Amino acid sequence: MKYQILAKDGRAKRAVVETVHGTIQTPVFMNVGTVGAIKGAVSTDDLRGIGTQVELSNTYHLHVRTGDKLIKELGGLHKFMNWDRPILTDSGGFQVFSLAGLRKIKEEGVYFNSHIDGHKIFMGPEESMQIQSNLGSTIAMAFDECAPHPCTREYMENSVARTVRWLERCKAEMARLNSLPDTVNPHQLLFGINQGGTFEDIRIAHADTISAMDCDGYAIGGLAVGESHEEMYRILDVTVPHLPENKPTYLMGVGTPANILESVDRGVDFFDCVYPTRNGRHGHVYTNHGKLNLFNEQFAKDMRPIEEGCQCPACRSYSRAYIRHLLKAKEMLGMRLCVLHNLYFYNTMMTEIREAIENHSYAEYKARKLEGVTGNYK
Ligand code: GUN
Ligand code: ZN
Repeated sequence: MKYQILAKDGRAKRAVVETVHGTIQTPVFMNVGTVGAIKGAVSTDDLRGIGTQVELSNTYHLHVRTGDKLIKELGGLHKFMNWDRPILTDSGGFQVFSLAGLRKIKEEGVYFNSHIDGHKIFMGPEESMQIQSNLGSTIAMAFDECAPHPCTREYMENSVARTVRWLERCKAEMARLNSLPDTVNPHQLLFGINQGGTFEDIRIAHADTISAMDCDGYAIGGLAVGESHEEMYRILDVTVPHLPENKPTYLMGVGTPANILESVDRGVDFFDCVYPTRNGRHGHVYTNHGKLNLFNEQFAKDMRPIEEGCQCPACRSYSRAYIRHLLKAKEMLGMRLCVLHNLYFYNTMMTEIREAIENHSYAEYKARKLEGVTGNYK
């Protein structure tokens, strides 16, 4: 992997990442397709049409349904879902903590029950790397614990220490898997994950420790889990300077357009979030004049597109009134158009962000965009 910074504007980084599945221009918003599909009946052809650079899937979900062994047998996740650009897989840690039933965290890993049929599963660092290797994603994430928020300082110290030991095991296992003769993607990359909740000193010490472990990139996890936006920005302010600048910095599970604009300004260059897809499925669409709820009566006779000038597949062809009608009639096309518009909105915002950093006008751009996206649509 090659990571090259093309421009900086304050702390904002504009970079390119070269991978075996092609180049990623950062800052980038990864489009979330948990089970190897973007929810809302969005195809990979659709993704190519709306400027998606990286698709994100989940180790845990693909392991419990259909199974990574079968996906490997069928040629890996890229071939399975017909997507030849980069894929990042999350390690399963976070999903196990947020979804699975009764779980027990031990030094060796996590024991839990499947959210599909309740059967007992064990996942530790080695299992997570094996599953991600079977999927053959471009970037694998380290197996971590996203500690509950809030938790005691003692809990956090123990959790973070274990996450460091897990990262050592992830690295060793990934190196072993990448050297096997039948590996789907022998160039699979590994990103470490910083934890520590809102304890600044724990965050910093952990960032220093994992930075010395030479991962391909570094994520900041355990944020957007219930703390305030101000607390999240404060943690970014203190943590990002302790992660290598010459490697990708990924803020996991974040966030709103405003969160992304603020985090880019703190040196983050990879993002992912379910908001554009989840909101789209509920008829909530992003515009530069605030969010619209297309279920509202005020759009019943509104023949304008969701956003004037938007080049997405929804806005090029359909009116707010028609999409509202589809949503109310529970036609799948309604959801699909809203999701396509939202992903296009996010992907396009990232393009604008990259241009603004290149032009050293990020501060002005951010101020203008923030005013738009946080506006109240009337
Ligand atoms: N997605 C959002 N937050 C996290 C986190 O802390 N860890 C992992 N693995 N995934 C996440
Ligand atoms: Zn649109």
